Amino acid sequence: MRIDIISVLPELLQSPMQHSIMKRAQEKGFLEVHIHNLRNWAVNEYGQVDDYQYGGGAGMVMMCEPLAKAIEQLSSERKPVRPGHPGGYDEVIYLTPDGEMLNQKIANNLSLKGNIIMICGHYKGIDERIRQHFVTKEISIGDYVLSGGELAAAVLVDCIGRLIPGVLNDETSALFDSFQDNLLAPPVYTRPEDFRGWKVPDALLSGNHRLIEEWRNEQSLKRTKERRPGLLENQ
Ligand SMILES: C[S@@+](CC[C@H](N)C(=O)[O-])C[C@H]1O[C@@H](n2cnc3c(N)ncnc32)[C@H](O)[C@@H]1O
Repeated sequence: MRIDIISVLPELLQSPMQHSIMKRAQEKGFLEVHIHNLRNWAVNEYGQVDDYQYGGGAGMVMMCEPLAKAIEQLSSERKPVRPGHPGGYDEVIYLTPDGEMLNQKIANNLSLKGNIIMICGHYKGIDERIRQHFVTKEISIGDYVLSGGELAAAVLVDCIGRLIPGVLNDETSALFDSFQDNLLAPPVYTRPEDFRGWKVPDALLSGNHRLIEEWRNEQSLKRTKERRPGLLENQ
């Protein structure tokens, strides 16, 4: 999978892509992440990419032209994603607080795509016409407002990237993580068996795989009922 991220602060995105699972996913060739500075498509030599908003009010708006040119250039460089496809990207995603709330189902679906553009907004956001004419999906990472879309894009790349087939090995398989089957994950323990008198549950020490699986299923269900009962209604 190829992900192109358009940002005015590309530095904010470097580190999250250079460690741990995202690093390995790229090294193994499962994921390519390209970070582009929107100022490469600025409207003038001063690197301008934003302007005052019509109607007045505080806060700048990211202009149409740099974003349109960036998306068009990147699209022209990509082959059609499937026969009959006009070329370009499977999705052009704008990270925005008023987008669809990110969840595991959306991440699962996006992890099957071939290539994606992500647009990080700043200031008051991006000109509405880019949303209307280029953006195919709008995603929020929660009901709160960040200063820019970079951290949201990093979250989205991470949760998609780890789901790409082959990225995780069996031990870390995402299938056993929270939300995959509308359940929260069970509690986990490691050595020692007894820490300050706080003991690891007997079932996990039993060596009996059936018992361990039953215990985990019960705990998953209990935790989901207590913390996120709404998930069980979606089953
Ligand atoms: C200060 S915010 C703009 C907020 C916008 N004026 C509003 O009230 O909806 C700047 C940028 O941060 C990003 N952003 C902020 N909060 C976000 C969230 N919860 N999820 C995804 N992106 C977010 C978006 O790209 C947005 O364009």
